[in-house]
Amino acid sequence: MKKFAFFLAALLMLTAGLAGCGGNDSGSDAGQQADGGQQTEVQEPAGDDAGAPEEGGADGDTLVMGTEATFPPYEFVDADGGITGIDAEIAQAIADKLGMGLEIKDMAFESLVSAVQGGAIDFAMAGMTVNPERAESVDFSTSYATGVQVVIVAEGSEIASIDDLDGKTIGTQSGTTGDIYCTDDYGQESVRQFSNGALAVAALVNGQVDCVVIDNEPAKNFVAANPGLTILETEYAVEDYAIAVSKDNPELLNQINAALAALKEDGTLDSIINKYIPAE
Ligand code: ARG
Repeated sequence: MKKFAFFLAALLMLTAGLAGCGGNDSGSDAGQQADGGQQTEVQEPAGDDAGAPEEGGADGDTLVMGTEATFPPYEFVDADGGITGIDAEIAQAIADKLGMGLEIKDMAFESLVSAVQGGAIDFAMAGMTVNPERAESVDFSTSYATGVQVVIVAEGSEIASIDDLDGKTIGTQSGTTGDIYCTDDYGQESVRQFSNGALAVAALVNGQVDCVVIDNEPAKNFVAANPGLTILETEYAVEDYAIAVSKDNPELLNQINAALAALKEDGTLDSIINKYIPAE
């Protein structure tokens, strides 16, 4: 079923081109950005041999990371058009540890797991929550961060807590855990899926949805950028972020876990996170 939905999504992307936002028809992922809008960033290996970058294949000189880069502070496109943020920097630090280069591919969030499975990318790093369904398809590294699903509303909204979401129109990023929880808890007809969080927030600003359910740090960024919005105190769900690797590549998983452990140990991980998420 999932495979079919994905196939359908791919077809729709081909035919529909760039679509703004999706409907809430579960089989339809028409809201997904076409991969044509993809950004690619190549970063050089740290003082290593400069062999031609290899597509996929962690045994090559370049690790290919997939992400969906409208998720600040974890990944976003900077003024120069490069993809930066916590995930990009941690990935670069991992690649440095492994003596490899890093290439980052921007794609629809929903495509990441299948891109890992199919080998189009070596790993996915996208503020991705570990959950049992995804863990059936990919292996997860040790967790490098915690995320919390929160609710963004317009200031003065009659939604004051999670209990008020019933009967409201909820904006989500398609395929995210926030999207999955809301669909489960409030029904598909209550959820409007968007291809990224920024579009969901824009719909909230325009009054097309009553709230947006999304991860807390991106939520803070979106609220800071859009006056008149606020985040409810209620935490909808607390989750672990980890890196997704193909089940066929246990070697890469071990290498990533070893690199993460070393980066935790020497303080690199904390300093990257603190750079983007100032202590409150
Ligand atoms: N943590 C949520 C999930 O795993 C949302 C992640 C969205 N990430 C992104 N880069 N857009 O489903």
